[in-house]
Amino acid sequence: MKILGIETSCDETAASVVEDGRRLFSNVVNSQIDIHALYGGVVPEIAARSHIEVINPVINQALTDANLTWDDIDAIAVTYAPGLIGSLLVGTLAARTLAVIHNKPLYPIHHVEAHVYANFITEIAHENAQMSETVDASTEHLQPKADQAPGPLSNLERSRSGADIGSLSDLVLPSHQPEFPMLALIVSGGHSQLVLFKDHGDYKLLGQTQDDAVGEAFDKVAKILGLPYPGGPSIAKAALDGDPLKYSLPKSKLDNPYNFSFSGLKTATLRAVQRETGVDFTFPSHELAERLSEQQRNDFAASFQNVAVSTLVDKAQRAYQDFSPKSVVIAGGVAANQELRRQLSERLPLDIEYAPMNFCTDNGAMIATLGYFYAQKVAPTDPYNLDVIPSLSMTKTTW
Ligand code: KG4
Ligand code: ZN
Repeated sequence: MKILGIETSCDETAASVVEDGRRLFSNVVNSQIDIHALYGGVVPEIAARSHIEVINPVINQALTDANLTWDDIDAIAVTYAPGLIGSLLVGTLAARTLAVIHNKPLYPIHHVEAHVYANFITEIAHENAQMSETVDASTEHLQPKADQAPGPLSNLERSRSGADIGSLSDLVLPSHQPEFPMLALIVSGGHSQLVLFKDHGDYKLLGQTQDDAVGEAFDKVAKILGLPYPGGPSIAKAALDGDPLKYSLPKSKLDNPYNFSFSGLKTATLRAVQRETGVDFTFPSHELAERLSEQQRNDFAASFQNVAVSTLVDKAQRAYQDFSPKSVVIAGGVAANQELRRQLSERLPLDIEYAPMNFCTDNGAMIATLGYFYAQKVAPTDPYNLDVIPSLSMTKTTW
């Protein structure tokens, strides 16, 4: 069963074709990071408009890269929750329209559940040579010519990721799909939670953040340190040249052993930067960064990352000891963090096979992959009646 997955919940417009919840045919991601970096974070209105500009080229590219036509596609899966309302609406409207036009079953997918399913992609459909991960090359013809007035697609140039994420055949995928019971540590810009999956669509939320998500904390601390958006990769890079034990930052203590809290760590980092630069707490935080030397910045990045990551690993280790799962997976943008992977592998007594970095951040492949397992249990939805749900946590425990 070949499923086209569509993802537009935040600032990535993405589409992908995956067969039987494991075999990847294409993965097209158009990131808006360059635009939002100008503002230091995602601007919802701009995100929605950018999705509108590129959604059709991205979907067409996913089919072209897969070397497939609509006749080959068995179903469409689309993110309907949670996310930015305007962004979700663009993807779901595209999916609903395509489901009606091409007469395909439509499956609504929960974005956070889908992050976990990035770990289920184990094969590349190698026989299809033409696979790319950006829309750059084939949308060239959509750029306005020099002598034309800029058309509605003129933002496409600006909205490109700029990051070359390489060819799919270079990806190192897990050798097999995770087994149940499976412990999932889901860590992204909007979520930090530990979830125990008994089976597909049968899971229990063990704990979650009580305030900021861990990715949000990375992004906010990066701002304090004057590191560019998105903060996670910037902090990880700066931390490579820093001393993780230079500044002592606190780990929060909570009653539920699986819950997280990152807002105290963020404030403690701010206070430590203020102390180190000799100003008091009334000093404007956006002017702090220029008072830091490069070494201090790197040391703060490393010290913050060390505490944030070891907090996550402490909780995962505790849940591992308590529930003895057969597999452990990490998911969401922060799962791309190398230090998290290193510490987790060091402290858990099982071999963890990590998904490639580009499947950790938002993508359509994870939507198509979950779409397959979802379709085994749940009837398709009515394309004329699919609403988006901007805030929907993982409380629904069975499909
Ligand atoms: O899953 P994602 O792409 O979007 C959401 O659904 O939130 O996650 C984005 C988050 C951002 O906060 C970003 O700073 C963080 O993931 N992130 C990282 C890394 N790469 C992305 N955090 C730490 N280390 C990284 N290497
Ligand atoms: Zn996400």
